[in-house]
Amino acid sequence: MAPAGCLLPPSSSLPPLSTLQKLTEEQILSALQGLSALYCPLPASVAFKLSPENNSLEHLAPPPLVDSGYTSGVEDDSQDVENVEQSLDALRADGFERNFVERWLTGFMARAYDVPGLSSEDARDRALDQASWVLESFVANTADDDELDDEHTHFTREFSFNLSVPGSQEEVPVQVQLNDGLAGKNSTDCDDVGLQSWGASIVLSDLMCAEPSRFGLTQPSLGTSPRIIELGAGTGLVSLVLGAMLPHLGTTTSDVIATDYHPAVLENLRTNIAANFPSNGPVAMHTSLLDWSAPVLDSPLDLPADMLIATDVVYAPEHAIWLRDCATRLLSPDGVFWLLVTVRQNGKFEGISDTVEAAFATTDRPRGKDGRLLTILDSEKLEKRSRVGRGDESGYRLFRVGWA
Ligand SMILES: C[S@@+](CC[C@H](N)C(=O)[O-])C[C@H]1O[C@@H](n2cnc3c(N)ncnc32)[C@H](O)[C@@H]1O
Repeated sequence: MAPAGCLLPPSSSLPPLSTLQKLTEEQILSALQGLSALYCPLPASVAFKLSPENNSLEHLAPPPLVDSGYTSGVEDDSQDVENVEQSLDALRADGFERNFVERWLTGFMARAYDVPGLSSEDARDRALDQASWVLESFVANTADDDELDDEHTHFTREFSFNLSVPGSQEEVPVQVQLNDGLAGKNSTDCDDVGLQSWGASIVLSDLMCAEPSRFGLTQPSLGTSPRIIELGAGTGLVSLVLGAMLPHLGTTTSDVIATDYHPAVLENLRTNIAANFPSNGPVAMHTSLLDWSAPVLDSPLDLPADMLIATDVVYAPEHAIWLRDCATRLLSPDGVFWLLVTVRQNGKFEGISDTVEAAFATTDRPRGKDGRLLTILDSEKLEKRSRVGRGDESGYRLFRVGWA
């Protein structure tokens, strides 16, 4: 075994993501446990209790089958705990390695549902929990760590779409940069699903840019001062893309209001808007608290929306009904509600996407001010795209909802 000073870094010991399909459950869990042992070590108080005969860090993690390097390369009788800790500290502080692990874990999580070695739900859950744990530790640790630069305090993601400008041959790049992660800086709340951009938001952003007319994002249907509200905006990808598109679509002033109900998500939304729209421009970008289950329509939600938009917001049986009732209060008489629902065929979300049609078909649904009912005018199935969204997403359904 190599001495502790030669511990193999994750970038040279983790199995390439392309080989995940061939790894056994044990090998995958072992690689993840190696990462936990490195980045989420037991408290020093526990480590110092190690007796001379068991002072190897192998005791902090199971023996790796896929050699994760940083746990196996320790010579019991030549290294004391202090030396090992120093080497591990150096490895932990290595920004390149951390970045590499961040990307590896994100990639792993996106593929976890398609990996044969993790076909049992229990193994998959354990693997995903372990991966999230390590990623969350990065977010939590970096907040206190002066030595790490800004790049590491966030999961910054950049998106770029090609906007086909209606009525011209022109294509304009629409670029958005986001804080995108698995948990908030100060939060371990598993409700923080809004701190990551989901496949549906990426698919819808791409479709809107590729064919704005399909969504009525053209003149004259848009008008010169449209008002667009996003429900359950999460990181705000769709709102940010709309904000970047609108000036190219013949609007003079517009309002885009990204809403959510979760405080950490709203804080992150504000950060993302400030990063992408640092100064006042033709599009006024707002964030607002809006809980579909108990909507309070104070400013800026006190005026009707020409367009409502929402992606991946139906993942509990009551969501579709809440969203319908909210939309009934928010949508202008000529407005349209675009709802992109993620279809998940396995696990606890199975069948939830079907609740949308039921919610908009029931005869006792609330009426708008002029007595009309919100109704699904069109729906379309969209295929899952390769390398977009999580492995449990099997496709999407795009609903055009309006008054009838
Ligand atoms: C799966 S995420 C989707 C986020 C974003 N639309 C996307 O596609 O990336 C669901 C979002 O709905 C929000 N949400 C859940 N329940 C809500 C409620 N009752 N009112 C408002 N927002 C809610 C969550 O905070 C989260 O941001």
